[in-house]
Amino acid sequence: MAQEDVFKKLVAHCKEYGFVFQSSEIYDGLGAVYDYGQNGVELKNNIKKYWWDSMVLLHENVVGLDSAIFMHPTTWKASGHVDAFNDPLIDNKDSKKRYRADVLIEDLMAKFEGKIDKEIEKARKKFGDDFDEAQFRETNPRVKANQEKLDEVHGRFVKALNDNNLTELRQIIVDYEVACPLSGSKEWTDVRQFNLMFSTEMGSTAEGASKIYLRPETAQGIFVNFLNVQKTGRMKLPFGIAQIGKAFRNEIVARQFIFRMREFEQMEMQFFVRPGEEMKWFEYWKEMRMKWHKSMGMGDAKYRFHDHDKLAHYANAATDVEFEMPFGFKEVEGIHSRTDFDLSQHQEFSGKKMQYFDPELNKSYVPYVIETSIGVDRMFLSILAGAYTEEEVPGKDGKSESRVVLKLPPVIAPVKLAILPLVRKDGLPEKAMEIMDQFKFDFNCRYEEKDSIGKRYRRQDAIGTPFCITVDHQTMEDDSVTIRYRDSMEQERVKISELYKIMTGHISMKELLKSLI
Ligand code: GAP
Repeated sequence: MAQEDVFKKLVAHCKEYGFVFQSSEIYDGLGAVYDYGQNGVELKNNIKKYWWDSMVLLHENVVGLDSAIFMHPTTWKASGHVDAFNDPLIDNKDSKKRYRADVLIEDLMAKFEGKIDKEIEKARKKFGDDFDEAQFRETNPRVKANQEKLDEVHGRFVKALNDNNLTELRQIIVDYEVACPLSGSKEWTDVRQFNLMFSTEMGSTAEGASKIYLRPETAQGIFVNFLNVQKTGRMKLPFGIAQIGKAFRNEIVARQFIFRMREFEQMEMQFFVRPGEEMKWFEYWKEMRMKWHKSMGMGDAKYRFHDHDKLAHYANAATDVEFEMPFGFKEVEGIHSRTDFDLSQHQEFSGKKMQYFDPELNKSYVPYVIETSIGVDRMFLSILAGAYTEEEVPGKDGKSESRVVLKLPPVIAPVKLAILPLVRKDGLPEKAMEIMDQFKFDFNCRYEEKDSIGKRYRRQDAIGTPFCITVDHQTMEDDSVTIRYRDSMEQERVKISELYKIMTGHISMKELLKSLI
């Protein structure tokens, strides 16, 4: 199935099974704003818990924070967001559609990459084990031509970004005859900068009110609280502050479902270090974060690092963790070495010292910072994309049938345990409720008695429930139940008294966390 179709199916699945709804849907929705349904919110909370515990429980020198969304407006002047938090936008003159110029160019490069990959795949199939990819890349004329174009666009693009050259960005679009995806037209306006921050007013009257912003990242709440946390927590460098919270960006091109939203959630950690030690910690956090992603069991080949072509003015190293979404490898998390830029800026704009006294060096300095910044919603999307599986399984009368199953790691699955009485009589529902009452303190359980057992299994597969417990007439005689495993669909007869041990063996945040150290 084409990856585009997989993505469409995934989006439809999210709605059908209570994961994600369009915001204000009854009013035709609000662009790039989404609500999380009954299963979505559980999955999201589990992802957040896993991140939080991996930061705050596993590192005794990382503590949490929950800062406000509204901040003093000078914060955003100091951080550079008022002047430089811009996207280069371009309009198509015929369709009147607005695009991000950098995204159009990235899509162009992805097109060249796609053509190269296609040629390679074709040749791999043709030559089998004898296929030498490196040699093929060097000699195949079509691959070489596309690689040359890719290199040229890439070179020009990076230079244009570094020089902040908007004319050149437009010129690349014109030279490579990029067409508006909607109308096919190649008539483009100039490229202009567009600030992404949402603003509103604080204060009772329009006259006295001051303009404030909805935070575009949670990080600044951490920076301005650096000394509060350091002093009250008697923290010694190196130490980190972790925070989960909403962020807002007026994205020009809001698309790909929850990949690019106008209201989203971030999980950020700022790690304060001695100047000169930042590269060591940058490498440490790169490794830690990649391990965290890979521990989700989606397959290591689905992840890669992508070093930034253009470093932000405050950074001396930056990389993205990318996941292979149905629409290609995309950024899920950024890891940045932000130098002492943010703390120094706040020191300058506030007039308050943002320094740390290092007792070992017997001097004060502004610490350097390594940041890890992951979007909850993108993580959610990557996990769903990795888990979504359509497969043929044995059905009735020896025929095969297809099922949709979310192969989520049990620890983060929205529902861990579905408890299903085989029939709605003979005391089976009461027995099932008894089991539910026993387990509801440990796991998110769901009780279901409607429809055939096969249909109920399929419904649980579709939301990723790893274990279904079936209560039948034998249960009433010997206190045994059937566990049905989601991925293998195997069934096992066990005593109710053994259930807790079996479940905790499979569903253990502790074991997942242990795999990270
Ligand atoms: N404090 C650094 C920072 O905010 P970023 O690369 O702009 O860096 C970090 O954002 C992460 O936040 C991204 O890797 C992505 O997962 C998420 N993110 C950013 N913009 C987003 C959007 N419009 N919708 C959903 N997630 C977004």
